[in-house]
Amino acid sequence: MPLVATKDKRYTASMRDQAPQQYFGLDIGSSTVRCVIGMIESPETGVLSVIGQGSAPNTGMRKGVVVRVDEVIEAVNQALTEAERVSGVHVSAATVNINGPQVLGLNSRGVIAISAANREITADDRLRVEEAATIVKLPPNREIIQVFAKNYRLDGQSSIKDPVGMQGVRLEVDTHIVTAATPTLRNLDLVLEKSRVEANHHTVSSLAAAEAVLSRQQKESGTVLLDIGAGTTNMVVLEEGEVQHVAVLPVGGINITNDLAIGLKTDLDVAELVKIQHGGLMKYAKTGPLSVVVNKNRHEFDGADVHMIIEARVEELLEYVDKELKKIQRSRKLPGGVVLVGGTANLPGLADFAKEKLELAARVGKLQPLAGLMDTVQNPEYASATGLMILDMLLGPRVADYEDGKRVTDMANLVNNFMGRFKRSR
Ligand SMILES: Nc1ncnc2c1ncn2[C@@H]1O[C@H](COP(=O)(O)OP(=O)(O)OP(=O)(O)O)[C@@H](O)[C@H]1O
Ligand SMILES: [Mg+2]
Repeated sequence: MPLVATKDKRYTASMRDQAPQQYFGLDIGSSTVRCVIGMIESPETGVLSVIGQGSAPNTGMRKGVVVRVDEVIEAVNQALTEAERVSGVHVSAATVNINGPQVLGLNSRGVIAISAANREITADDRLRVEEAATIVKLPPNREIIQVFAKNYRLDGQSSIKDPVGMQGVRLEVDTHIVTAATPTLRNLDLVLEKSRVEANHHTVSSLAAAEAVLSRQQKESGTVLLDIGAGTTNMVVLEEGEVQHVAVLPVGGINITNDLAIGLKTDLDVAELVKIQHGGLMKYAKTGPLSVVVNKNRHEFDGADVHMIIEARVEELLEYVDKELKKIQRSRKLPGGVVLVGGTANLPGLADFAKEKLELAARVGKLQPLAGLMDTVQNPEYASATGLMILDMLLGPRVADYEDGKRVTDMANLVNNFMGRFKRSR
């Protein structure tokens, strides 16, 4: 099914007219920065094409957080330059990911009274109750980056998807609020400023990846998406089309490499190559002697040792994931199963292993159909950057960012940007 640039009903026609026809996703990862550029070829068909992509190794981050600003800036510039060269389009703004173990999701409820004489719920009431839910006491140095409505309740009647047009007195909403540490956000701002890219929106990479690889049915039926990168595992649980839970775990592919280096008593670059060339789980696990060549030197290892180390680390990672699922009573209870993306999803046999450990159906995520250079972003490590590009299109320009020449970044802006996004038909 082609992707159609359906705008949220709260966007006005004039905003739609101004909407750019090119869209940009920038995934600043712990090991690699990736940029994907897309375009709507013709407004009539609304088909989204990938027109460029770029990537560059990133040495300036640890576990999703900027630790050396200059190195991240350089990686961002390299990735952007490559994507610009491929597409012939200049990147000045993009939808950008936020990562790091400091990214936390929390549930919050909003309640308002409906005062109109006829008790009919308007779109303004819906916004008011959503805003009420964002009035939460946050720990110091923490900011809200996204807000998602899970469901509404009207005079005690629950599971209402959209209350507008209904009648009642007491309107409630359950939301999931994603927060990030202020220093993390400021460092990212600094990187973007120095790279001369503006952030149209910030979002967690798992959500972006969900947009790129999950079908509508998977979002409805209850699915956990895991973006297993180098330094982090970014997870999101979607159910009934809504975000139920967001979490960032501070473990990823680098932990496997580190343990291989220790267990095999070898250098990190050798360990990384062993993992990439010979790593595998279940039926892909190798036994017997194996070797890699680094700088013309051959290094030999026992396949059984390699397998044991990889399996132990991945098992531990999946235990963390299950712990998160237990927090929301979804352990072993997601009909849509688990969908894996991120570079570590390339580990042969990972889906089968996850199926066994999490007792859920499991598969590596495949991109929803796109036109153009789709083949260049097929690898699961590109799912987030591609999803960010799709979100850049779906979310449109920042709503009411400037009013009377003044910058407005209030809660209504966040709410407008993100509420109801997963309800959109695609
Ligand atoms: N074939 C493979 N087998 C096992 N691991 C792989 C394979 N290919 C890539 N990886 C691992 O994937 C990781 C990189 O994934 P990715 O590019 O998604 O991370 P990132 O986005 O830079 O990091 P993060 O999302 O944690 O900030 C590395 O640890 C790399 O070793
Ligand atoms: Mg990543």
